Amino acid sequence: MKLLFIGDIMGAPGRDIVKAYLPLLKRKYQPTFLVANGENAAHGRGITEKIAKELFEGGVQAITLGNHTWDNKDIFEFIDSEPRLIRPANFPAGAPGQGITYIKQPEGELAVINLQGRSFLPPLECPFQTADKLVEQARKRTKYIFVDFHAEATSEKQALAWYLDGRVSAVVGTHTHVQTADERVLPQGTGFLCDVGMCGPMNGILGMEREAVIRKFLTQLPVRFEVAGEPAQLNAVLITLDKATGHAKKLERIRIDDDHPFME
Ligand SMILES: [Fe+2]
Repeated sequence: MKLLFIGDIMGAPGRDIVKAYLPLLKRKYQPTFLVANGENAAHGRGITEKIAKELFEGGVQAITLGNHTWDNKDIFEFIDSEPRLIRPANFPAGAPGQGITYIKQPEGELAVINLQGRSFLPPLECPFQTADKLVEQARKRTKYIFVDFHAEATSEKQALAWYLDGRVSAVVGTHTHVQTADERVLPQGTGFLCDVGMCGPMNGILGMEREAVIRKFLTQLPVRFEVAGEPAQLNAVLITLDKATGHAKKLERIRIDDDHPFME
């Protein structure tokens, strides 16, 4: 059983490359479950209902978000009526939406949990304690549990993965937009990848136009970041799940760009 997780989809270049390669990735890997992080999908800032619909129509079964969840006001109109779209579960009480969803397939059910880190990000509720509650809830329903941990610090991501080792199928990081090469299965069976990387502009800085980012570093003046243009890259991870235990058997990083062409 396989789970394909697509990294942060960034603006139109990210949406376009996902649209182009998703049919090929589906044909090659035949994933049972398909999840994507869409927190940068609308011009780098949040997601709209139209974009979410397009992703669902393309085969994405659940969308996770992150620190840009509320950047596009459209979200308030549909997050409560779209259970396949989740935001970090450790947002303070009273925030719209929810942080867990379930994907039902004939082969089994996958719980998808979205959490956000607190290192170099706003001080939310504790992601570790929130994970405890949600994992306990999910384990009553299924042994397949996936966590998208949207966080900046590698240490915080490693800590959550080790904390949940054996209790979830995989913990995969998002947010830094740079794919790490540390994929592994921890001793108790939880798959881990510190950051899956993003789907978006290849020649920007984390997907944003370089000039504005460099100007910001040089001057510390306020600048407006815009999503950079083509060419784009696609980053994802394929997780093979053990049918007997629900644990991860193997993680395979996927990277498609001009230097790493897709192989059928
Ligand atoms: Fe983020």
